[in-house]
Amino acid sequence: MNTLTIDIRRAEPADAEAVAEVHDTAWRGAYVGIIPYSALNRMVGRRGPRWWANAIRRSATVLVLEIGGEIAGYATLGRNRARELPQEGEIYELYLRPEYQGIGLGKRLFSAAREMLVTHGLDGLVVWALEDNDPALSFYTGAGGRDVAEGVEVFDNKALRKLAFVWD
Ligand SMILES: CC(C)(COP(=O)(O)OP(=O)(O)OC[C@H]1O[C@@H](n2cnc3c(N)ncnc32)[C@H](O)[C@@H]1OP(=O)(O)O)[C@@H](O)C(=O)NCCC(=O)NCCS
Repeated sequence: MNTLTIDIRRAEPADAEAVAEVHDTAWRGAYVGIIPYSALNRMVGRRGPRWWANAIRRSATVLVLEIGGEIAGYATLGRNRARELPQEGEIYELYLRPEYQGIGLGKRLFSAAREMLVTHGLDGLVVWALEDNDPALSFYTGAGGRDVAEGVEVFDNKALRKLAFVWD
């Protein structure tokens, strides 16, 4: 039997291509049918390997989850952007390739991202999710998040509600 090693670590510029690929598949998997197709296409198109290499270098913190040598998911995190919420940290994005979802890896990546926020001295955490993204809402509720605020994100002409989950 082969044993697959799971490693969660900070992304390096050499990971940019793989992260761009995960971003593309995971976003299409999560948002086709929710975000209008052309808007989704544009958002994915903007975030190619060069965009990711830059993001990784600029140290917006990017974590990757590597399994058996393949990048299966990523998370980005940093300071909370919503001034009306007192939590200091935020997980901006948490995405896994569809074939790696539902087997506990999201939970591990979320914990690692949370620990990294603590390491950065950021107290409390916010995550935003689109209200139509049922799996994400179940995931964050299951992880003990409280949904405390809502907002609206407009994609082309379609307004979608989003919810903020917090952990103190
Ligand atoms: C959301 C996401 C990160 C969750 O990671 P995951 O690895 O699939 O979730 P896990 O297997 O770690 O599951 C953790 C818990 O969440 C629950 N959960 C996960 N996916 C779920 C789903 N689709 N429906 C209901 N519950 C779900 C599980 O029941 C599990 O609870 P348990 O520990 O009591 O069994 C992952 O599915 C993903 O990348 N989805 C697409 C992108 C996305 O929506 N990202 C979030 C954007 S805000």
